[in-house]
Amino acid sequence: MDVRYRQVSKSFGFYEALAPLDLHVADGAFLALLGPSGCGKTTALRLLAGLERPTSGRIFIGDRDVTFTPTRDRDIAMVFQSYALYPHLKVSDNIAYPLRVRKVHRAEQARQVRKVAELLGLEDHLERRPAQLSGGQRQRVALARAIIRRPQAFLMDEPLSNLDAQLRLQMRIEIKRLQRELAATMLYVTHDQVEAMTMADLVAVLHNGRLQQLAPPAELYARPANLFVATFCGSPPMNVLAGEVIDGTFRRSSGKVAMPAVGYRGAAKLGFRPEHAELVESSSNGSIAGEVYVVEPLGNETLVTVNVGDALVNVRQPADFSMPIGTRCGVRPVTRHIHLFDPETGNALKSEFATAA
Ligand SMILES: Nc1ncnc2c1ncn2[C@@H]1O[C@H](COP(=O)(O)OP(=O)(O)OP(=O)(O)O)[C@@H](O)[C@H]1O
Ligand SMILES: [Mg+2]
Repeated sequence: MDVRYRQVSKSFGFYEALAPLDLHVADGAFLALLGPSGCGKTTALRLLAGLERPTSGRIFIGDRDVTFTPTRDRDIAMVFQSYALYPHLKVSDNIAYPLRVRKVHRAEQARQVRKVAELLGLEDHLERRPAQLSGGQRQRVALARAIIRRPQAFLMDEPLSNLDAQLRLQMRIEIKRLQRELAATMLYVTHDQVEAMTMADLVAVLHNGRLQQLAPPAELYARPANLFVATFCGSPPMNVLAGEVIDGTFRRSSGKVAMPAVGYRGAAKLGFRPEHAELVESSSNGSIAGEVYVVEPLGNETLVTVNVGDALVNVRQPADFSMPIGTRCGVRPVTRHIHLFDPETGNALKSEFATAA
């Protein structure tokens, strides 16, 4: 079922945790709500779950206005960071719980538990109690319990943040596959941009309770709407340098960068990703002068950090790259991948030249 927020806001006293939000998640789509701690992600999810009342606006699941519908009648399933399993129940009974509440016939319960357990690789653990499982297995039980209900939508709030890095990676893949297999509508809250970018069809970036950009991951990466999105998505993040655009050239004390044709003049911030710059001789045309600050070989590539005076700039280089620390060099951004931002508002200026590439 599709899900819609229409001008939904939430204030706690005078504090606006969520500014009026418009969001549509198509039936069967995976939407990630992404943003730093305190930006309003959980609040947005709790509003949809019916655990909070909106200060204004309407919420729809399918054609149904559920704004004032109690949680239990919204037909959604939630998975939280803490798995919230019943410690005294066996895994099979934990998974079957929603069916038991609905008084589904016992044989049918057992059949569905087997099916879901198989889907999540839990067949061999059905007789255990939660305390006898690893974190990843417990989270899988929580997922199984959510799935068995066949809800209209799944809401997940940082479900992987209690897991170690390797398990997180594995569960990320499993949840994504599961969502596609079930063709289920998913709202997934995370502060981890890699999770959001790799799992979702659509990412909603929140900051200070406001939606910054709503776009597919590739679009978010290639055409960030503002400096916040540009520097929040990508690892390492986009490089940002302050300067001025004069006569179609970006200038700063440490060098000049040729710009794609832009009508803009005046103070600006120049942005470019670590993979969109070359390292050149220090006095080369169209480059920013600096010196090598640190070189990090990562196996598949080498990350070079260059000190350009008032900032450190990251540049991706091939695995076999090496250069002594302190070497003077120039950083030359690739013209067609340059972004420009308004230094006051942080909004992207002329982001269309990135599009033209
Ligand atoms: N019940 C409440 N009463 C007062 N303030 C609240 C309440 N719930 C949330 N807030 C505030 O609203 C803001 C958004 O909180 P929310 O839990 O939605 O953030 P979040 O994006 O989920 O953060 P995190 O990544 O840390 O979980 C925070 O500043 C928080 O302190
Ligand atoms: Mg939260």
